[in-house]
Amino acid sequence: MIVPRLIERKRDGHPLEPAELRELVLAYSDGRVPDYQIAALLMAIYFRGLDRGEMNALANAMLDSGKRLDLSRLALPRVDKHSTGGVGDKVSIILAPLIASLGVAVPMMSGRGLGHTGGTVDKLESIPGFRTALTIPEAEQQLSKIGCAMLSQTKEIVPADRKLYALRDATGTVEVIPLIASSIMSKKIAESLTGLVLDIKRGSGAFLPKLDDELALAGAMIDLGMQHELPVVALLTAMDRPLGWACGNALEIAESIDVLMGAGPADLLEVTLALGAEMLQLAAVCSTAKAAREIMSEAIASGKALRKLEEIIVAQGGDKRVLSDFTRLPQAPHRASFPAARDGIVQQVEPRAVGYGVIALGGGRTNMEDKVDPSVGYVLTAKPGDRVTKGQPLATIHARTAADLQAGAKALAEAITIGDGDAEPLPLVSHRISAKGVEVIP
Ligand code: URA
Repeated sequence: MIVPRLIERKRDGHPLEPAELRELVLAYSDGRVPDYQIAALLMAIYFRGLDRGEMNALANAMLDSGKRLDLSRLALPRVDKHSTGGVGDKVSIILAPLIASLGVAVPMMSGRGLGHTGGTVDKLESIPGFRTALTIPEAEQQLSKIGCAMLSQTKEIVPADRKLYALRDATGTVEVIPLIASSIMSKKIAESLTGLVLDIKRGSGAFLPKLDDELALAGAMIDLGMQHELPVVALLTAMDRPLGWACGNALEIAESIDVLMGAGPADLLEVTLALGAEMLQLAAVCSTAKAAREIMSEAIASGKALRKLEEIIVAQGGDKRVLSDFTRLPQAPHRASFPAARDGIVQQVEPRAVGYGVIALGGGRTNMEDKVDPSVGYVLTAKPGDRVTKGQPLATIHARTAADLQAGAKALAEAITIGDGDAEPLPLVSHRISAKGVEVIP
């Protein structure tokens, strides 16, 4: 294998042989090919794409670069949910304990923040002591004991994706359908699932803002699932504004706990229940979405779902006292509210600008070595369509320093626009895609 020749072929628009891609990915994963060559190849793929054969070869090579969970001894159905990435998207933290509390095993392997989006692993690690780097035997044991493990990708599972994900983040090559599809699906297939629900984000804050691309991404991931006998259902959900109110790691943990206590923002609960209903139907726990919503609402109202989160936190070494006392989560020393600049109707709360604002506050990374400050971020209090008056607080900024408060406010000034006309936010859940085709949700 002569790596520069492969890069040139892709650069010039010619397909690579599946066997060549496989060899290359495995060699990169083992440290036999340097980052700079793969970075060049990723950029060539960004512009030239991959055909289905190439994408399958990439996903399979990533999968075979490491080990898989072995959950075949579990008598329970095994279902996970994965999102393509958003701002304020803390659904996984609510959904994993909720669904596990209803008799479904949830082996949830998540990522760290990528680009402007937050990552479930960073959020979980804001719980003091919480350990996400579980070994495969630890994750398997925890799943058989309490039905859920929330883990980060280790060097053992899909290590090729771990390296490629970090390299893509650092080289402007995240937003490519076959790279996103193979990255997500290799991890999910390695979890040994019996069903998978995908939350494909839609709108300006999504990695792929165009509807056609989102539908193509859903199709690619459903196809990859079919090849591994993994049933996949995808929902397209709105990411033209942040989900919920909180954006920032510890703030999002607090908001997730609120939802599990029966409070929390309505949009976040709705997306959680829509995705959860698909999970419970794939697991054959319920045969209709209505029945699934009822048992999820009961699990929240009775405290069963919150107790499952407590079990997960304890099993993974975290401080369960955060559940009743949010001051045990990291607290930013500086807070200020961000006022509306004029009377009017909120037109946009642009998620990318909010996500980059969280990074500017120190709550995300600009390179993989950066340490994340879990305490910082925003708690927004306005959504597109809200009528506001000049001076009304639109958000609270949580920052490390007074200077950071200024940087945080600058990002919000770019993110939030106020005008006079009606806002036109996307529907919260707009499409359902499965192997049977695409349904538009009324
Ligand atoms: N999430 C992933 O796991 N991979 C991507 O490429 C994008 C989002």
